[in-house]
Amino acid sequence: MPANVTHKSQGIGAAMNRVDGRLKVTGKANYAGDSQFASPPLIGWVVGADVASGTLTHLDTSGAESQEGVHAVITHLNSVEQAPFGSPEDMGRFGQSRAMLNDTTIRYAGFPIAMVVADTLEQARYAAQLIEFTITPAPISLLSEHQEAQVVPEDDDGGYDPDAGIGNIDAALADHQRFDMTYTTPNQVSAAMEPHTCIASYDGEQLEVQASVQILASAVDCLASTFKLPADKIRIKSPYVGGGFGSKLGLHNDAILACIGALQLQRPVKVAMTRRQVFHNAPHRGKSIQHMALSVTDEGQLAGVRHHSAMPMAKDYAFAEGTGVAARINYQAAAIDSQHRVKVVDSPMIDSVRAPGDAIGSLAFESAVDELARTLDIDPVTFRRNNIAPVHPITGADFSTNNLDRCLQEGAAQFGWDERTYRTRGTRKNGFGVALGMRMNMIVPSEASLTLHPNGELVVHTDMTDIGTGTYTILTQIVAEHLKVDANRITIDLGDSNSPTSSGSGGSFGASSAGTAVLNACEALSEKLCELAGLARGNSLVQLAGDNVIFGEGQTQQQHAVPHLLNSDSPLTVTGSVAPDEGNDEYVQYSSAAHFAEVEVDTITGEVRILRQHGAFSAGRILNRKTAGSQLKGGMIWGASYALLEDLQQDPRDGSFVNCDFAEYHIAVNRDIGDITLQLIEEPDYKACKLGSKGIGELGITGSGAAIANAVFDAVGVRVRDFPITPDKIV
Ligand code: MOS
Repeated sequence: MPANVTHKSQGIGAAMNRVDGRLKVTGKANYAGDSQFASPPLIGWVVGADVASGTLTHLDTSGAESQEGVHAVITHLNSVEQAPFGSPEDMGRFGQSRAMLNDTTIRYAGFPIAMVVADTLEQARYAAQLIEFTITPAPISLLSEHQEAQVVPEDDDGGYDPDAGIGNIDAALADHQRFDMTYTTPNQVSAAMEPHTCIASYDGEQLEVQASVQILASAVDCLASTFKLPADKIRIKSPYVGGGFGSKLGLHNDAILACIGALQLQRPVKVAMTRRQVFHNAPHRGKSIQHMALSVTDEGQLAGVRHHSAMPMAKDYAFAEGTGVAARINYQAAAIDSQHRVKVVDSPMIDSVRAPGDAIGSLAFESAVDELARTLDIDPVTFRRNNIAPVHPITGADFSTNNLDRCLQEGAAQFGWDERTYRTRGTRKNGFGVALGMRMNMIVPSEASLTLHPNGELVVHTDMTDIGTGTYTILTQIVAEHLKVDANRITIDLGDSNSPTSSGSGGSFGASSAGTAVLNACEALSEKLCELAGLARGNSLVQLAGDNVIFGEGQTQQQHAVPHLLNSDSPLTVTGSVAPDEGNDEYVQYSSAAHFAEVEVDTITGEVRILRQHGAFSAGRILNRKTAGSQLKGGMIWGASYALLEDLQQDPRDGSFVNCDFAEYHIAVNRDIGDITLQLIEEPDYKACKLGSKGIGELGITGSGAAIANAVFDAVGVRVRDFPITPDKIV
């Protein structure tokens, strides 16, 4: 469906409304749970293990099987054949087998041991209660002390260097005033608005899947690995995703279970997680322990930066957050010593959550840096500006562009840092905080096709996703700008694994990667049309107006009818692609942020109220000021939520999560947030990619929480080192 755009300015950078906005608010956008299959799906209800580790020793499903409406109770005794969990190893964590219901081993609390498939949700859910099972528990292991964590074998930790640094850290710490601090951050959950949901259908030949997933190609690999099917027999569609934040980078239990049901029954089967089920059936962010030692010269220069972190990693799932990232990039120092250690735990799946490494790394590290500046009575903005790194602090490589100092300086000016005024209102005192954030930028291989129809309409096909970020809109803008065509004549078709393979959405790489592929497709189409018109070099496409193409060379213009150029009724399709090495890798690429906050703290109750947050951001060229701003604000809010609220409690006896709903797992809501403002310091970065854009999806959260934490300290002089900063820790 073409865009329904009324916005006058449709080019890159314009604050154009989302082209899919109307479909979404009128309920016409089909999400994974809205069946597009001919027959209504059967409903699967999962039964999960009640312990984190052990062996399923007794299972009786007869009571469930005899219930009305029940088509099957699927367990390891009768499930379809699957490859062992985690195989083949070279497919990486998103492409490996995610087998379940295929043996008696319990991998984590809530691990599926049975699925009831029935006509209705109520029937399936009722029958599931009649399943009797016994698990013989085994001892479990969780991360409680830093000393328990080790270097895990290379490639087993998600690829984050266990050790990085420069200089003589012992000397740098010994020779100057030294500060030692330990910070911890808790388990956290992604909490995407749309709970994980999948409908699968199998006709004996082709597995068709409606999923809610951020990256389609590796999701196809995952189903191929798990069910030993050829990839070309699998099609996944994920045209709309109600938020992912990393918890949908790969497929999770809902999708595997729906496919097991469909393969077994050869009927469409739907598995829609309830909010409570998401907590154990989809990945979460692991807790962190961060030991830091910082030293500073008499002149206020950082001399030594030590950051030793310990992170949990789920069994047979190679990912642990690289929590040292902030310590490795935010500041220059004579010596840097970053150690990343990991412990394999009996926990539900642990995976990326928005800004993996940085969200919680910067929360702790930017708090620690603030402690030092405040103790030495150095203005925290000045301290940061005096210590930021002109080149990569460890490798010495140049930045492609880096506007961190401008973010700090211009952000402070707009926030009114130098004019901040302190006051007491009743029992409440206000305070101000600052923190910075650096988030890496990257390009992931992407391809897109662009089809010109004889009537002049354009369609882009790519398996890229829009996870709420605005992909449909920015790709529309890229085509509108490069082909000078009205946005209403452009259709962006996303989220179908049969389309050319893109980066997908994740790691802040989606917009630049998929966007550059689409830009290259536009250029390919311009060239092809010039060639079809028989025009000499020097001519270029000036405008696509209706079904006419206008070409120009200097002042001379000429017009050709599209049907005439195509010389038939068939459309013309070209492709564009991008590879990571098209960026300039002599340079390191980062987006930068400076966060400012004012809070008010009640000295009697310990309640923290956020009065205002301000962010100054630099992320290359901005593709859409509205969608970019929304992403950045969302990140700022989430950072505040990490600072003050979010804490996923794990029961040490059985590894299960305790607070599995939004009444008990607190996420910031409107009332928790004050005024939010932001400014964009825009400088296109053409070393990063041809579009000039850099990642913003994870930038807003990077540093945001620390600014709040630092403001709390400024207000009442209490430094809380175990997040979140709840009232009990303040008073
Ligand atoms: Mo992201 S946490 O790579 O979706």
